[in-house]
Amino acid sequence: MTTSELLDALWRDYTASTPQAERIHQLLVDRGEIVHNDHVALRTYDAPNIGIEALAKPFEACGWSPREHYRFDEKHLRARYWQHDDPDLPKIFISELCLAEMSPRTQAIVRGLVEQLPADFAKRPDLPWAGRPWRVTYAAYQELLAESEYAAWFAAFGFRVNHFTVDVGALASFPDLQALVAFLVEHAFVMNASGGVIKGSQAEQLEQASTMADAIEVEFTDAKVKIPSCYYEFALRYRLPNGDLFHGFVPASADKIFESTDVRQPPVNVAK
Ligand code: NI
Repeated sequence: MTTSELLDALWRDYTASTPQAERIHQLLVDRGEIVHNDHVALRTYDAPNIGIEALAKPFEACGWSPREHYRFDEKHLRARYWQHDDPDLPKIFISELCLAEMSPRTQAIVRGLVEQLPADFAKRPDLPWAGRPWRVTYAAYQELLAESEYAAWFAAFGFRVNHFTVDVGALASFPDLQALVAFLVEHAFVMNASGGVIKGSQAEQLEQASTMADAIEVEFTDAKVKIPSCYYEFALRYRLPNGDLFHGFVPASADKIFESTDVRQPPVNVAK
């Protein structure tokens, strides 16, 4: 599989559940922009065989190399990112939920999901977009949601991209992230304003913003329910004192980014 086949498969799967990403991408293209992605984010549980390392394999086979580890204490997550020698290719950011830090009830629900995985499931070359390999009830989803939005999202959607992130520095017609956010709001997209629309700062070398997640109908074992799927993200990177572009992530502000699909936060339209 080539890098573009891999990224195309991820983009197709992502936009199927996140139609706003396709619309925003098209708006930028119509404006004359060539859209580069800063990173692609994937989620998983730290259960045996399906953790960060398993999800990374198809990317490593295509030439991405592992970089820094991160820890998001508040969200009970570990994460790492991968970078490709080709600077035009996005970084791959993979996080996993630390199940041992969850309540016994959440651990039991997740165990019930993971036990349904077919043998050798984790070895699939298409693992990052393999979809939801288990049956799950809406009641279980809601129980997970009460403790962790992340746990519930992964139970409902399974193996797929959580978000693509546009590289704002590579856009030609937007001087900064604020200008891009204003453009999106003007086009009636709703930004995630929890903790401020722009997370991070120039001092941290990374600013990010994201839309509120699309809501799509998901088929649970016992019900079909509209729930938040994925959001589209925008990142502006700054140069380090040595002149190199900062490529890492900032756990303090990313903790807020992880809340982007949180249904307990009412959506706020910054245009109003
Ligand atoms: Ni991200």
